[in-house]
Amino acid sequence: MRLRRLPGVRQALLQHSRWLIAEPEKLKNGWRRYAGPGREIHLELGVGRGSFINTLAQNCPGIFWVGAELREEVLLAALKKAASWEAPNLVFLWLNIEQIPAVFGEGEVDRIYLNFSDPWPKNRQTKRRLTHPRFLAGYRQVLRPAGEIHLKTDNREFFTFSLAQFGSQGFTLQEVTADLHRDPAKATWGLSAQVMTEYEKRYTARAQPIYRCVAIPGDF
Ligand SMILES: C[S@@+](CC[C@H](N)C(=O)[O-])C[C@H]1O[C@@H](n2cnc3c(N)ncnc32)[C@H](O)[C@@H]1O
Repeated sequence: MRLRRLPGVRQALLQHSRWLIAEPEKLKNGWRRYAGPGREIHLELGVGRGSFINTLAQNCPGIFWVGAELREEVLLAALKKAASWEAPNLVFLWLNIEQIPAVFGEGEVDRIYLNFSDPWPKNRQTKRRLTHPRFLAGYRQVLRPAGEIHLKTDNREFFTFSLAQFGSQGFTLQEVTADLHRDPAKATWGLSAQVMTEYEKRYTARAQPIYRCVAIPGDF
């Protein structure tokens, strides 16, 4: 699971072990019990410095939040945020998103957030995009029936690609917008539309449009 090592950062990560699941594969098929009875499990993939997931976890204490991130230096910032408010309903995974199906059992996740995923613009990089069919198959496996994927991006090409993949892989699309913060419908959508990520704040400050959609496996 450990992919890169920066001197000292690993030690710093381990100091926040209450919020970092060391061997998440061991929780496979046990996440519902771990989260607590009746609690939904929401998973953000590529949390960066973690301000989005920390804000949502504070606002939704009845939901259990899991954040996945590969880069230890930004993960450390996310862990520190969780420690600063003693988050009781939030944990992080230090891993590559490729491993998600090895960590969660079938239907163990209620919702997935993909916020400003790396767009991998070159044709030869298509397979690395987090909405490539090989990733969508994994998300479908871990999502419960009628679970949701909430996606936001600043990148038009990545958004167009993602809409096409969701369509071809049998996902139903809802709340599709090419300019979230100027869309009157935004007020009727949930917190994931209202709360900005770190990247989103940056792009919005430059008046760049934010693209967003919700994708649901199957027909709804
Ligand atoms: C462009 S940043 C966006 C960060 C944050 N979601 C935001 O909106 O502010 C993308 C993040 O996803 C992480 N990431 C990209 N590919 C990943 C992978 N395969 N596994 C885990 N994390 C990944 C990167 O390390 C980075 O922190």
